[in-house]
Amino acid sequence: IHGNSQDASFWVANEIAQLIRQRQKQGKNVVLGLATGSTPTKVYDYLAKFHKEEGLSFKNVITFNLDEYYPMKSDSIHSYVRFMNEHLFDHIDIKKKNIHIPDGTLDKEDVRDFCNAYEEKIVQAGGIDIQILGIGRTGHIGFNEPGSSLKSKTRLVRLDRVTRLDAASDFFGLENVPTKAITMGVGTIMDAKRIILMAWGEGKASIIEQSVEGRIRESIPATFLQHHENCEFILDSAAASSLT
Ligand code: F6R
Repeated sequence: IHGNSQDASFWVANEIAQLIRQRQKQGKNVVLGLATGSTPTKVYDYLAKFHKEEGLSFKNVITFNLDEYYPMKSDSIHSYVRFMNEHLFDHIDIKKKNIHIPDGTLDKEDVRDFCNAYEEKIVQAGGIDIQILGIGRTGHIGFNEPGSSLKSKTRLVRLDRVTRLDAASDFFGLENVPTKAITMGVGTIMDAKRIILMAWGEGKASIIEQSVEGRIRESIPATFLQHHENCEFILDSAAASSLT
């Protein structure tokens, strides 16, 4: 628990930077699982700053994003491709071929093969070393809404109404928010070697309390993280305020 999200984000960015540097010395790659949304933006700001000011290189970094709305054009202001470019990729020296984001432009009949190939690529890259997560008010991680199973893998899902309502202002109205998304599964996330879930603000306090202290159950997918052996919740004091 950190006093504020700025300090917490600095801590998370440092953990990532340390692993990147350590692997560079060994001549090895780092595989990062990345999230979008408002929560990780300060971490990305710090990583871009470390690149600019300290010469932290991302040439040995491979990334897999958690999710993308479906359907979604990559050049839309709402696409997670655009989000990642604006917040991180345009500011660092990552190789384009090392960036992976679920493809919102696919024809429906091609989605299943794409999802299977996404899983395969994560395995071939050596598995995710650090998975960054935010959390939705429904308890979703990625877009694994209530009802997602522990073993679920990358797939097309229907978004919860609460999640769509939370996105409505960004999309200038609920009717414009996509009803579906492609997301890594709970099982995909659970396979990561280390998981860092971040949450800021009072609005997340209740779901954080239920996820950390509540019974493990499908109706709150983030409770599955209690099973993971190397998972941390990094919170500001407001998000931690309902914990006992
Ligand atoms: C985004 C994602 C979502 C968000 C969650 C919280 O890639 O997978 O699970 O992390 O909806 O969103 P924010 O950070 O906007 O509160």
